[in-house]
Amino acid sequence: MHTLRAIYFWVLSKKKRANLRSHEIRVAVAGAGSALSGMVQAISLYKKGDGRGLLHPVLGEYSPSDVEIVAVFDVDKRKVGKTLKQALFVEQSALPKYTEVEFDTKVLPGVLKDERLQGRLEVETSDEQTVTQEIERSGAQILLNVINGGMYASSEAYARCALKAGVAFVNATPTPIATSLELEALFSRNKLPLLGDDLLSQIGGTILHTFLLWFLNSRGVWVKQTYQLDVGGGLENLLTVEDDELKLTKRTIKSSTVSSVLPYQANIATGTTEYVDFMGNSRESHFEIVGSYTLGAPLEIELTLRTQDGANAAGPLLDAIRAAKVALDRGIGGALEEVNPYLFKLVRSKVDPISAEKNFIKFFERRKEIGLE
Ligand SMILES: NC(=O)c1ccc[n+]([C@@H]2O[C@H](COP(=O)([O-])OP(=O)(O)OC[C@H]3O[C@@H](n4cnc5c(N)ncnc54)[C@H](O)[C@@H]3O)[C@@H](O)[C@H]2O)c1
Repeated sequence: MHTLRAIYFWVLSKKKRANLRSHEIRVAVAGAGSALSGMVQAISLYKKGDGRGLLHPVLGEYSPSDVEIVAVFDVDKRKVGKTLKQALFVEQSALPKYTEVEFDTKVLPGVLKDERLQGRLEVETSDEQTVTQEIERSGAQILLNVINGGMYASSEAYARCALKAGVAFVNATPTPIATSLELEALFSRNKLPLLGDDLLSQIGGTILHTFLLWFLNSRGVWVKQTYQLDVGGGLENLLTVEDDELKLTKRTIKSSTVSSVLPYQANIATGTTEYVDFMGNSRESHFEIVGSYTLGAPLEIELTLRTQDGANAAGPLLDAIRAAKVALDRGIGGALEEVNPYLFKLVRSKVDPISAEKNFIKFFERRKEIGLE
């Protein structure tokens, strides 16, 4: 009897250890657009031995190759029913193909609770219950929300699906989810990690602007005024430019991130301002900074940054997913305050970018401290 019990507990603990050590990160995704394309192309390249430019090739014990896309939802009729590797390239403004991707997951119809796509796209949709069931059926551990900005009700619906399916939620959109008191409390109560809101691009206008101002301030420059104006193509930019409320929301979020590094008030204006269809997935960010330094001598900087949106989302999304998995491993629920300010623009408490990075790294190192490695 004693031996049987010992065997039983040995098997149990082995299984538990196997689960803890299981490297696969099963991710369901809402929104098969350019951000997801960047992420799956980065995973595919990494699997081929090319991890160039990634923010963090390995985090904790997880690498990009551990990420499996097990379910995908979209509402664009051209994408629904296709495999992910086909769907990612149907749009003219799609992120260009840097590598072949081997993701054969079929795109399923998603939840649509907003009217913003009317007249823009032919849609095919489903309901919350079916989407929840599909997430459960896929065995996902995390739901990644990369649908368009300004789709407030739809993003909230996906957050509810995650709660019902019992999975972590990563919100790359500007819809307040991790910063919503009500939703955050629900994720916290259910011990489900919550990451968001509004992804901070790897090397986009906001982070470059923030570091430029931080650097100038550290060198004694007094910044009087500065702006960052963006021009880009693609559905996300089109929807932003057409929606005054979303434009203002994005501008406010970006400006508050950028201004957080100056210990005084400067005139700061940032935000997407123009849509140019032929720019596709490319973005140009134009910066001007005006200030003064020793003797009050004038200083002016003009700069143009050219990037691609999808590629810019890949690294931070992979980091967010791995942070969510580590939090799941540790049984941590609710908004991840150590991680969110590093990866997202809209957060509950603003942290300067240097401390945000330190806290983020510490979050992964703590894994060793508590003996999980
Ligand atoms: N660098 C970046 O790409 C970046 C940076 C910061 C934030 N974001 C945020 O990430 C999100 C995605 O950006 P993107 O460039 O991939 O946009 P995109 O337009 O390329 O793709 C969005 C996809 O979502 C789909 N969609 C729209 N509503 C949906 C719904 N209700 N259910 C399922 N699918 C739906 C669209 O059909 C499209 O395929 C946006 O909210 C954007 O603000 C992206």
